[in-house]
Amino acid sequence: MTSKTKILITDGLASQGVDILRDVADFEIDLRLATPQEELARIIGNYDAMITRSATTLTSGMIDKATRMKLIVRAGTGVDNIDIPFATTKQIAVMNTAAANSLAAAEQTLALLFSVVRHIPQSAALLKSGKWDRGDTFMGYEITGRTLAVIGLGNIGRIVAEKAVGLGMRVIGYDPKYSQASQINSRLAQTDNFKIVSSIEDAMRGAHIATVHVPKTKDTINLINAERVALLHDKGFVINCSRGGIVNELAVIAAIDGGKLAGAAFDVFEKEPPQFPQPVFNHPKIVCAAHLGASTFEAQERVALTAVSQMIGFFKCGERTGVLN
Ligand code: MLT
Repeated sequence: MTSKTKILITDGLASQGVDILRDVADFEIDLRLATPQEELARIIGNYDAMITRSATTLTSGMIDKATRMKLIVRAGTGVDNIDIPFATTKQIAVMNTAAANSLAAAEQTLALLFSVVRHIPQSAALLKSGKWDRGDTFMGYEITGRTLAVIGLGNIGRIVAEKAVGLGMRVIGYDPKYSQASQINSRLAQTDNFKIVSSIEDAMRGAHIATVHVPKTKDTINLINAERVALLHDKGFVINCSRGGIVNELAVIAAIDGGKLAGAAFDVFEKEPPQFPQPVFNHPKIVCAAHLGASTFEAQERVALTAVSQMIGFFKCGERTGVLN
């Protein structure tokens, strides 16, 4: 009798994906949500494969304990929580589901943009506390005709750029991979309201709003720092829907308090889950969400179906779709 392929799911996966995996005869599925690191270290050696999101950190020490592991599937985009070079030395394949949640993350970016320029969460919180304020406190800005700097033109950055142009914004994009719009998207190439520049500085200089869509690596930590924030238009805004630490939270707070920025919006934080209280959460001009960029029913279904199809392809047909190493 051949032994079963044991698959661990640590951070949850939409039921549509779990059900498909459970129906594969020789797969054994273990769904352990929010598995603490100590418990994971104890059990990881029992599994042939795992599916994670960003809440599970797979360091070299953890991967070293995964002696049976052949495949790690990151059900999402960012892989900064997985030591891929170390996994490679152990001949463990690492996959992500790159584009499956891009639309959700791009829409979250735009939701944060509207929320921060129109003070919607602040007004909602005041109403919940029983106060009605239609005065200047919540006077906002229109976005039509304003300039949006999009740093990073991967799947998410490109969708943000396209939708922002559709909303009447001028978009200045930067990505080291591209020098002209026609290289990334024919629709963006056809509009005068989108252009690509060759540095972050050129993208941010004079822009009203900056949004960042790059992976977290040692080179992108602190990418949006005090010097770059200072290049924005006065009373500008910064949005981070990528990874915590790419935008320097303290530099942004200082720029708001100094009057340079009018506000900021963060979906991601340097430390997740964070400790409380945090200066960004308490700041009256900063809008925050708890890393919900990919949290739509549609995106999580797409992510789950992509993750399980890649996993089945790997074990049943030797396919390597989505492999990053
Ligand atoms: C991603 O990288 O895909 C998102 O941040 C969402 C997640 O952690 O799953």
